[in-house]
Amino acid sequence: MSDGVFVTGTGTEVGKTAVAAALARTATADGRRVAVFKPAVSGLGGEGEPDHALLRRAAGSRQSDDEIAPYRYRPPVSPHLGAALAGEAIDPARLRAAARAAAQGSDRLVVEGVGGFLVPLTLGYLIRDFARDLGLPVVIASAPGLGTINHTLLTVESVRATGLELTAVVLTPWPSQPTEVERSNREAIERLGGVGVATLPRLELSEPSTWPQLELGAADRSRADARR
Ligand SMILES: Nc1ncnc2c1ncn2[C@@H]1O[C@H](COP(=O)(O)OP(=O)(O)O)[C@@H](O)[C@H]1O
Ligand SMILES: [Mg+2]
Repeated sequence: MSDGVFVTGTGTEVGKTAVAAALARTATADGRRVAVFKPAVSGLGGEGEPDHALLRRAAGSRQSDDEIAPYRYRPPVSPHLGAALAGEAIDPARLRAAARAAAQGSDRLVVEGVGGFLVPLTLGYLIRDFARDLGLPVVIASAPGLGTINHTLLTVESVRATGLELTAVVLTPWPSQPTEVERSNREAIERLGGVGVATLPRLELSEPSTWPQLELGAADRSRADARR
């Protein structure tokens, strides 16, 4: 797959959707045709906009629910269990084909994982395996506060162990007035992980037109720093 990014995170509810949406929106605002993909969505019964709908809106994409997220479940559980409760099993070959199909006709594919990097899609096929099969560079979404150094560095190690390129860690939502701990976390992750750490401010999720650009990569990071 040529141009794209795989957004994973240190766990569930750590900002993967926010980061993936910001990356999608940034590319769309650059005039690129963006497709989004998420191997499975669970917790559909809950409050709020489901991930595949938010990603589609951010990307300005016309993909159907099935094209973005082929497996969708109501219970807020790991995808392998959501599938079992629905009386089916997630088929890795179908996921790979669906992601390739989503990428066709677009300039950039933004994929959001499910939960953390070692979450099972089946008991023999983890998010890690899907990311490796797609071969896209990885971005790790992570929280800014206490506990994040360990979770983030574990994920950095795991991503690198797959042989995938690690583009950056993104701390989200990054407060407008970060505390000493948050600043220190950012620096510690950068130093210990040997990885660029970008930040994403709190977005008004209903209004993608108001979101700042999220540019990753060394040159872009210095620009982002200059803006802060
Ligand atoms: N930059 C951000 N702007 C606004 N909300 C954010 C941001 N980062 C995280 N959040 C909030 O934190 C929660 C978890 O974020 P989400 O992106 O849904 O996590 P994940 O996809 O990892 O489960 C959500 O309520 C989301 O709105
Ligand atoms: Mg999400």
